[in-house]
Amino acid sequence: MEVLEAIKRRRSIRRFEDRPVPEECIREILEAARLAPSASNLQTWKFKVVTDPEIRKSLREAAFDQKFVERAPVVIVACIDFTAFGERSRRTLELLRSRAVRPSLEMLLRYLRGEKGAEQEERNLVSACINVSIAVQNMVLAATSLGLGTCWVRAFDPQRVAEILELPPECPPLILLPLGYPREDPEPRSRKSLSDILL
Ligand SMILES: Cc1cc2nc3c(=O)[nH]c(=O)nc-3n(C[C@H](O)[C@H](O)[C@H](O)COP(=O)(O)O)c2cc1C
Repeated sequence: MEVLEAIKRRRSIRRFEDRPVPEECIREILEAARLAPSASNLQTWKFKVVTDPEIRKSLREAAFDQKFVERAPVVIVACIDFTAFGERSRRTLELLRSRAVRPSLEMLLRYLRGEKGAEQEERNLVSACINVSIAVQNMVLAATSLGLGTCWVRAFDPQRVAEILELPPECPPLILLPLGYPREDPEPRSRKSLSDILL
């Protein structure tokens, strides 16, 4: 399937068939993540592939009871890997390991506005979220082209997910990606018109 066709065909899928996803498909999808671009090619991501039904049940609970998270035969958990920043994330790693992180919205906004005062930490955080998101969308499009359905899931309790999967503190989960053969064919959701999104 051409990329443009996959982009146009993709829908968020929340109903899945019971049949398992072949190992080769999961590998192909992870390969799409691995090949994603990232700032300075730092590849600040790690992935956990969950198929175990008990763990999927726990993930569903951590995702505020979104049932399709359990019903999907596979859930790929996309995490930020702060260790990939090396020395540039020393402070972030210290904070993550001490669990003493206090998000500084002001610093983040300053960074996004291009004002002085933002630290390396804010830059790393923004770039890590962008990098992981690109990898996730690569997986979404790869899955579509293989006839599989996915749905981005951000509504979950990251602390619970980290506990369930015993993730290291330096690898917080950013997105859950339930994956499986679609058992629905939803109509496209509405989008703003081109003129509405042009400044
Ligand atoms: C960052 C992000 C987070 C999302 N989180 C959730 C979620 O927690 N639960 C859910 O059912 N859908 C979630 N979605 C899916 C959106 O609701 C969906 O993409 C949007 O309604 C457009 O529909 P479509 O994907 O079928 O085109 C998320 C999508 C994105 C990109």
